[in-house]
Amino acid sequence: MRIAALKETAPGEHRVALTPETAKKFIALGAAVAVEEGAGANAAITDDAYREAGAEVGPAATVLAGADIVLAVQAPDPAALAGAKDGAWVAASFDPFRHRERVDQYAGAGLEALAMEFMPRITRAQSMDVLSSQSNLAGYKAVIASADEYGRAFPMMMTAAGTVQAARVFVMGVGVAGLQAIATAKRLGAQVSATDVRSATKEQIQSLGAKPIFVEEVAGIEGEGAGGYATEMSEEYRRAQADLVSTHIAKQDIVITTALIPGKPAPRLVTDAQIASMKPGSVVFDLAVAQGGNVEGSQPDETVVRHGVKIIGYANTAGRLAADASALYARNLYNFLSAFWDKETGRPVLDEEIGDAVRLTRGGRVVNEKLVAN
Ligand code: NAI
Repeated sequence: MRIAALKETAPGEHRVALTPETAKKFIALGAAVAVEEGAGANAAITDDAYREAGAEVGPAATVLAGADIVLAVQAPDPAALAGAKDGAWVAASFDPFRHRERVDQYAGAGLEALAMEFMPRITRAQSMDVLSSQSNLAGYKAVIASADEYGRAFPMMMTAAGTVQAARVFVMGVGVAGLQAIATAKRLGAQVSATDVRSATKEQIQSLGAKPIFVEEVAGIEGEGAGGYATEMSEEYRRAQADLVSTHIAKQDIVITTALIPGKPAPRLVTDAQIASMKPGSVVFDLAVAQGGNVEGSQPDETVVRHGVKIIGYANTAGRLAADASALYARNLYNFLSAFWDKETGRPVLDEEIGDAVRLTRGGRVVNEKLVAN
């Protein structure tokens, strides 16, 4: 069993899917581990650290030769995996709805694509969930980046020269990233409020000491779809939410949006007119900018100034905390593969519940029901 990890090639991707820690653990399971030279450089991991962990370090072609499993953060172009074994597994983030053509290419190349973002949201898979581990860091980074762009302080400060007011921070979308954003903004001393379409988040917001801002008057809103994810909301709800948010947003200094709906473009939550109602110098951070954006006018990796308000958002937020993001991502992959390790054959054997959920391609065909149905 040979496990290979390559240097990421996507622009701005600083993470790596294998760390010396996980290399050592895979080796302890009986696998041989190989990693492309320089793969960890942007995540503060040297080639020597991999070697000390027992991994082979070399050029991509050598690393790939005879690989049974390839680990990656972003799924590589299958043409670059030619040296791997027939039917090799590739465990990576595939973004399958937006990059459907790549899934077909994986099928064509006879590879078995395992999409980590399709990990089911069940208790035993929590430690394998790359969306959670990366969103957590992204929620933190969104607050830190906003604080950095904001020309005022977050905490209230009483000084001899007068009082500095606490910043008002509003978090829209209270999943994993939103909860971390609330916690981080609270720690920095801001006055925090938050909203979501899932009513279950209200208590979570309160338990972090923030104020929930919720649409109450529209009947029958639970907002919760399959697997704890949000569903698309009715027109009536959307109007009520827009009215509520408009009044609230005008009083905020920082707005952080994190709303996503799996398989759909990110919902539009903040309009240009709402931005115009904010005070000059305010900051809006759009964590969903790479999925189409929650905020009108946001652009990946650009600071857009509209009506004196800075709109920011990163194409790859977790990638800006590459060392921690890699450590967590690599552990997610290790937790996933090791949970299914078959001692007799010395390789992982996936069960139906998780295997069928994450497997996109097998035997030259696209086999995932979420994609076949589309
Ligand atoms: P997500 O990244 O898909 O979406 C972020 C947030 O945006 C969600 O809270 C969603 O409800 C909200 N949202 C969507 N449309 C919105 C709108 N129009 N207005 C306002 N908010 C909107 O969600 P994430 O972070 O992946 O978490 C979703 C749920 O799954 C959470 O309850 C989380 O605790 C749960 N979860 C469970 C796991 C497990 O059991 N293995 C692992 C990770 C998360």
